[in-house]
Amino acid sequence: MSEQKNIGNIKVIICKDKQEAAQEGAKIFAKEIKTKPGVVLGLATGGTPVDMYKELIRMHKEGGLDFSHALSFNLDEYVGLLGSHPQSYRYFMDDNLFNHINIDKTKTHVPKGISQDIPASCQEYEKSIKEKGGVDLQLLGIGSNGHIAFNEPGSPSDSRTREIDLTEKTIKDNARFFENEAEVPRKAVTMGIATILEAKKIVLLATGNNKAEVVAKAIKSPATIDIPASFLQNHPDCVFVVDEEAANGL
Ligand code: GLP
Repeated sequence: MSEQKNIGNIKVIICKDKQEAAQEGAKIFAKEIKTKPGVVLGLATGGTPVDMYKELIRMHKEGGLDFSHALSFNLDEYVGLLGSHPQSYRYFMDDNLFNHINIDKTKTHVPKGISQDIPASCQEYEKSIKEKGGVDLQLLGIGSNGHIAFNEPGSPSDSRTREIDLTEKTIKDNARFFENEAEVPRKAVTMGIATILEAKKIVLLATGNNKAEVVAKAIKSPATIDIPASFLQNHPDCVFVVDEEAANGL
């Protein structure tokens, strides 16, 4: 059984374990997909959302959850990786979700990691989100340094989709997905904080002991540029779905 509480402006749903957190997150997404045809989903990568995507795939296969009218925009992509690279976020999304549901892949968007003109393709990404009416429901994870998407500490609240240098901490954290640390790209393209905060509803998913300290800081410290996730306190409809381990500091 999950427990709910409000801390300041943020609603927190505390689940028994990461499996229950994945189910809780999937439930929120399924409800939005069912009630809003043409829903615009904001999607995330990383280890955390994998179980939630598995649950959405199960709901599609066993319960007929229909993605045929849905659109999606992903948060970020590594600079220099083609979508065919197994560590690119485009590949991750195809592999962990899109290939297993009935979404129209031409309606799934991931920022370009390779472009002749990265600033121009970032502007196009922003424009494209606006043209589709904005993100209805945004999924986020949280980096151990407080980043959301790849908005590293120091990212201002008015930032938009742009190229960013990854911090040493993020490179080390994400090395587990690559052969070795040297292979982790040093730059990424990320939606900005302002882009993320424009989503109508936000769900941040965090599980495990290693996220407890940063989750507590994001929710309880005053909003600060040093912990980009703390800017979520300024959003009118943001829920953190966490397991008991990640809720340890609350
Ligand atoms: C990655 C992604 C983020 C993600 C975070 C946490 O670097 N760019 O969007 O939320 O790191 O990842 P994980 O869920 O693997 O801890």
